[in-house]
Amino acid sequence: MLDKILEFQMEAKKRLDSVKDSSSVEEIRVDFLGKKGKVIEILKNLKSVEESKRKEVASRANKLRVEIEAKIEAKKEEIKEKEYEEKIKSAKKIDLSLPVDLKLGSLHPITVVEKELIDIFESMGFTVEDGNEVETEYNNFEAVNVPKHHPARDMQDTFWLENGQLLKTQTSAAQNKIMKKYGAPLKAIFPGRCFRNEELDASHENTFFQMEGMMIDKDVSIANLIYFMKTLLSEIFKKDVEVRLRPGYFPFVEPGFELDIKCLYCEGKGCKVCKHGGWIELCPCGMIHPNVLKMGGIDPEEYSGFAFGLGLSRLAMMKYGINDLRILNSGDLRCLKQINIK
Ligand code: FA5
Repeated sequence: MLDKILEFQMEAKKRLDSVKDSSSVEEIRVDFLGKKGKVIEILKNLKSVEESKRKEVASRANKLRVEIEAKIEAKKEEIKEKEYEEKIKSAKKIDLSLPVDLKLGSLHPITVVEKELIDIFESMGFTVEDGNEVETEYNNFEAVNVPKHHPARDMQDTFWLENGQLLKTQTSAAQNKIMKKYGAPLKAIFPGRCFRNEELDASHENTFFQMEGMMIDKDVSIANLIYFMKTLLSEIFKKDVEVRLRPGYFPFVEPGFELDIKCLYCEGKGCKVCKHGGWIELCPCGMIHPNVLKMGGIDPEEYSGFAFGLGLSRLAMMKYGINDLRILNSGDLRCLKQINIK
């Protein structure tokens, strides 16, 4: 039996030295150390070995088992490394210094409109601020004069998180933080993604973009507000667009207005985009409520200001003649490619 152990030792060594791939290593393991492997059989049948030699056979067979196990592990590692190196050698090379093929993609229509608006507002002295997507209930509602149980909360049903925070329903949610950060006078815009638990249709998405704007100074009036609104729309559309201003209710402005734009899709005749009314609600606005100024740390006796919340997604829709807002979030290249953005 001791001779057999020696013979198996040499055979295992020879086979393991010349093995080239991991499946052959596995075959060797099964042959020697598998349930019916040569070394395991010796250990299983020790009873049949002469008693005087049994201890030595057991000890040598065990040593051989450990030796083969170690060699197999080492061989596996060696083969794995070789296979990895070969994979790297044969991998397709990428030349990172090649110029980017700009035809591959383009900016999203909402991004384009947002950038244009930023340029327009920056040229009028506004700064561009950021807002969070996850907000506190206080910032989204209370700080803009919509306390708990206020009926206006029903107009903006949202997605609540388990920690009591929410996905912001309006860019107005950043008003308070920005007022506290800069104080008055203040001229800022803050674009951002908003979320609402909405009935979806051609002009309503659960995820959409708005751009908020605020101007606070001494003697700011509705005349300033109308001037800024008109300027931005004519700059964006590069033509005269028909707008109408009508009273609108938002607890954070007084007086409040709805600025509607004549539906550019049907030119006011009525279609599914404008819900057959001929007009699209685009930019509610108004004079900032004294409570909101106070909560932002600004004295309403000294300062006044206007705020607006422009529907960026709807503006992109109008500008590019898209008849369904949902296309903008669909990621459907067949639609997005048709939008002619230079
Ligand atoms: C607001 O969100 C106010 N925070 C706006 C505001 C700011 C008023 C400052 C006064 C002062 P409203 O819910 O109407 O208002 O939304 C503003 C604009 O966002 C709408 O006119 C519309 O263009 C866009 N909008 C609202 N809901 C959706 C929606 N579900 N999908 C796409 N666009 C939407």
